[in-house]
Amino acid sequence: MTTDLLARHRAVLPSWMPLYYDEPIELVSGSGRRVTDARGRTYLDFFGGVLTTMLGYDIPEVREAVERQLRTGVVHSSTLYLIRQQVELAEKIARLSGIPDARVFFTNSGTEANEAALLVATNHRRSHQILAVRNSYHGRSYAAMGVTGNRGWSASPLNPLQVAWLHSGERLRGLLARLGPDEQVDAAVEDLREVLATQTAGDVAALIAEPIQGVGGFVHPPDGLFAAWKKVLDETGILFIADEVQTGWGRTGEHFWGYQAHDVTPDLLTFAKGIGNGFALAGVVGRAEVLESVPAISFSTFGGNPVSTAAGNAVLDYLLDHDLQANAARTGAIIADGLRAAVGDLDCVAEVRGKGLMLAVEFVHPGSTEPDPACAVRAFEACKAGGLLVGKGGLHGNVLRMGPPLTLTEDEAREGLAILVDAIRAAAVVPA
Ligand SMILES: Cc1ncc(COP(=O)(O)O)c(C=O)c1O
Repeated sequence: MTTDLLARHRAVLPSWMPLYYDEPIELVSGSGRRVTDARGRTYLDFFGGVLTTMLGYDIPEVREAVERQLRTGVVHSSTLYLIRQQVELAEKIARLSGIPDARVFFTNSGTEANEAALLVATNHRRSHQILAVRNSYHGRSYAAMGVTGNRGWSASPLNPLQVAWLHSGERLRGLLARLGPDEQVDAAVEDLREVLATQTAGDVAALIAEPIQGVGGFVHPPDGLFAAWKKVLDETGILFIADEVQTGWGRTGEHFWGYQAHDVTPDLLTFAKGIGNGFALAGVVGRAEVLESVPAISFSTFGGNPVSTAAGNAVLDYLLDHDLQANAARTGAIIADGLRAAVGDLDCVAEVRGKGLMLAVEFVHPGSTEPDPACAVRAFEACKAGGLLVGKGGLHGNVLRMGPPLTLTEDEAREGLAILVDAIRAAAVVPA
């Protein structure tokens, strides 16, 4: 059955849309943090469809909210009419964003959210110069690809923006390796000043950055770097856009938004993925004077529609009522501490990194920082064989990524940890 579906998939869908695993799987049902494939095999899910199934599967509160909306008969109205669910969700997100006098514009995807952020930033500043970060990923439209600093995800050189690239803040290799924490921030600020002076005409519109780079393998800069960068940006009014598509809603455990690790307030913040728990919901929040910088009609047919915003309200209420941020900190620590203790010293493991329930293991050839994607793939397949779904990523494809639903229980954290540890130990043995 799965083999037949795979053949049909390959016959009709583009090859640049990759499938996971030597033997791809079809997920046919899910409950809580577990999914079952078409062969009847059940897995604990530590990836949640790329950090998107944020509450887990079949959450009654979300299902009932969506069913309630469906029962009204209005699945869609367009934003030409008032949408109560949309207004309510915008009020909540504006309040939670930390951005003063905030406005919210809803879209269907993170790509569109970043596209909207770049639109208002470039209009507001009357400049199409953007600072972006190496090893970033911001989506698949021309502008979002244009600020994506990862060859593997840059499908076109066409770019409506003029982009200058900052260092990612990675500390394993490159500019910041071997520096102490304060020196790292200083070096990254020096890099920003040099890029501004050498690669821009000065009147830059905005800097866009992920607090933790998702596709980039959960690489993150030292805490406080964004504030140090913002001081420089403020000298000439350059806006700061935080792409919270992966890091938002308490996933990092220590904060509600990733940007809060840096003691800084962004001018614009983009969100997507988890807020819909699978329903297509995303958007941008920004200071009114910035978000209002749209000199023509601009709307999204489906963005913030009654069904997706009904889901979004239910997801956000559930998240806050159950303090899932605290749960992410608690269960994330079990996994991170367990990984560091059990596999942190293996020669093939360069780093266990991340925050809360956004954790990564980077694999290298022993005795070096040379990426070892083959080892990562062995660990990845071994996790599946052990009954655990995880993600893969990083610039070199040598990173395992874990982003379980934020409802993960402590027992499930320990169960997944045990599978991960076995898989990584097995992967460390190079096949003859
Ligand atoms: C940080 C970040 N920004 C933007 C996007 C694009 O979101 P979407 O795939 O919903 O367009 C992604 C998707 O993985 C992401 O991780």
